[in-house]
Amino acid sequence: MAASSVFRPGLFNNKVAIVTGGGTGIGRAISNELLELGEHRRPKGARVPRGAQSFKAQSCCVVISSRKLERLEKAAEEMREKIPPSSPARVSLQPCNIRDEDEVSAPCRRPVLPPPSLTVKALVSSVLKQFGRIDYLVNNGGGQFSSPAEHISSKGWKAVVDTNLTGTFHCCKEVYAAWMKQNGGAIVNIIADMWKGFPGMAHTGAARAAVDNLTKSLAIEWASSGVRVNAVAPGTIFSKTAMENYKELGPNLFKRSIPFSPAKRLGVPEEISSTVCFLLSPAASYISGATLKVDAGQSLYRSMWEIPDHEAWPAAPEGENLEALRELLKPPSKL
Ligand code: ADE
Repeated sequence: MAASSVFRPGLFNNKVAIVTGGGTGIGRAISNELLELGEHRRPKGARVPRGAQSFKAQSCCVVISSRKLERLEKAAEEMREKIPPSSPARVSLQPCNIRDEDEVSAPCRRPVLPPPSLTVKALVSSVLKQFGRIDYLVNNGGGQFSSPAEHISSKGWKAVVDTNLTGTFHCCKEVYAAWMKQNGGAIVNIIADMWKGFPGMAHTGAARAAVDNLTKSLAIEWASSGVRVNAVAPGTIFSKTAMENYKELGPNLFKRSIPFSPAKRLGVPEEISSTVCFLLSPAASYISGATLKVDAGQSLYRSMWEIPDHEAWPAAPEGENLEALRELLKPPSKL
């Protein structure tokens, strides 16, 4: 695999990671970088670390998960093609609906190909059965649609909050209960640039802001288990799938956002994956409860939302002469 990560090869040897939304865009870049950093082979004759005798223990395993099997299969195939034959890194795919916490809608037990869509409990238990541990969880699975708040139906609102907030909570809770509580680990939640509100996508703004807060609560509650919980808040990141998600609005949405970035360009998924790898790695061993904004300063800059000129604001307190103020600030008339 052509080395593109700035991190040291072998950094994630012997680790198992789950990446939700791991088949496309930011999730795919995260999975690729984890695999790249888990591909370091032990030099011939080097000492085998205690407890790492088996192939299983030597390899880095990345489990990519999302609802869409076809996309997962295509992504996993592309990832496998990039892993050199000498590398012990492995990618595995598992369709899962992160909105479903429990086993209730778990699929049939007989072995089937392609793999069935699992609940979060079933996903975590299947990863543990297959790989024996879960060191990292990256909650990147999510989705939204663009709409003014007044037109968001209750169903649409619930769907977005269920996926982005409740889905993230389900995954954190289950991975903690089944593995990290006893063994430690690191979690990274991917949120969004919702720091000035998220006009046009109020549902996801509310859900992502809630995940920012959830990140802090879990970082404190789970600190004594050796679990670090952090978040990454990307600016506008271009990927083909992200653009397609917004249908015919997509190209214009991304194009229009360029002047609102201090960098005057869009970000790319690999600029997020490097931050996620940093937060998962021992380089971040003293970081928990933090949200890193990876947005070139976008969150400090102008909002894309245009407010038309209007006079709908409530009247000023009595005694304030707004008319006089308006006159005072009027631009000088041209001759
Ligand atoms: N990505 C978007 N929606 C999802 C869901 N419900 N489950 C898993 N991944 C998703």
